[in-house]
Amino acid sequence: MNTIIEKINENNISIESIQRASAILERGGLVAFPTETVYGLGGDGLSALAATKIYTAKGRPSDNPLIIHVAEIGTVYDLAEDINDHARMLMEAFWPGPLTIIFNKKDHVPGSTTGGLSTVAIRMPSHPVALALIKESGLCIAAPSANTSGRPSPTCAQHVIEDLVGKVEMIIDGGAVGIGIESTIIDVTGELPIILRPGYITKAMLEQVIGEVVMDRALEEVGEEIKPKAPGMKYTHYAPKGELTIVEARVEKKQRLEEQYGVLKDTVSYSKIVSKINKLAAAKMAEGFKVGIIATEDNAKDYKADLVINIGAREDALTVSAKLYGVLREFDHEDIEYIFSESFSNDDFGYAIMNRLIKAAGHRMIYV
Ligand code: TXA
Ligand code: MG
Repeated sequence: MNTIIEKINENNISIESIQRASAILERGGLVAFPTETVYGLGGDGLSALAATKIYTAKGRPSDNPLIIHVAEIGTVYDLAEDINDHARMLMEAFWPGPLTIIFNKKDHVPGSTTGGLSTVAIRMPSHPVALALIKESGLCIAAPSANTSGRPSPTCAQHVIEDLVGKVEMIIDGGAVGIGIESTIIDVTGELPIILRPGYITKAMLEQVIGEVVMDRALEEVGEEIKPKAPGMKYTHYAPKGELTIVEARVEKKQRLEEQYGVLKDTVSYSKIVSKINKLAAAKMAEGFKVGIIATEDNAKDYKADLVINIGAREDALTVSAKLYGVLREFDHEDIEYIFSESFSNDDFGYAIMNRLIKAAGHRMIYV
């Protein structure tokens, strides 16, 4: 298949380009497009055939449901049943934006889009190109992240091209995305709202609007017995080809040092992380392997490896999230076999970043 690469400037959107993309979707074809979180691979959300094409292009298991993207809150009422106060308040507060809400689906929403579930995931993205495409097509657009299943989600058009060229009709190049990790998913169909996937919209932000919210237990505990409620969260996702290990300071130790040394704490624990990572890297390089390191800005200059990538300042979560998946792909390009990463703050949005990093590492963590 010939894939059209269509450049669209989000600040000056070409109507002709949007019309070309829209025509493809209306004919049942696939178009990859930017959202504020990651690039999506779009198809007609009410077409079982389009859903099948999406699964094939991504190589994705068909029990892993897709998110439907809308451009107006009103459309949700055509797709979902039992829309309660929690859902209404969240849509008002966070849409358009990086929040996906789970609803009970109406019958005409095909099971092939929802992975056979009786619920449907819906979100209204805030990216102007995504909104323009949904509006022009008059469709609701089913769109998973536009990566090959198992690879890191795409945060720029080049990543999509790597994975999907020749497999989809069009890839819209709208530049780099802003957030870089996928939307927060919340299920409000029960009494107690549950976060199924953490993201830029944090637990605290959600609680300000609807009161108590809990995390899906499967996010907190590693173990085969607890099945995540978002089917996609069970797969080893976001994996780079090299084996990734996170090196983290033991929190208790850090707290103790904090009490003991006050402001010195950071220097103390982070320098331990740096020397631990350098030791691990040196051992692998001595065995002849290619080694990469994910470093924070402060420490980047202190590492020795085949490829050291500065992912941004520890306190600048949005920079770290925007760069994370691109960094993982860079290690793949350089055929890095072992990757060691510092850990990042687990607070607020940092929780979502660590969730993705830990998944990419297949839960391999070393404490110092
Ligand atoms: O930011 C995002 O959400 C991006 C952009 C493109 O919008 N999309 C995205 O889609 O991340 P995807 O397919 O890569 O991830 C969708 C996640 C999966 O973990 C899936 O299992 C879950 O949403 N999901 C979809 N429908 C669901 C449902 N009815 N119940 C529970 N989880 C659902
Ligand atoms: Mg995905």
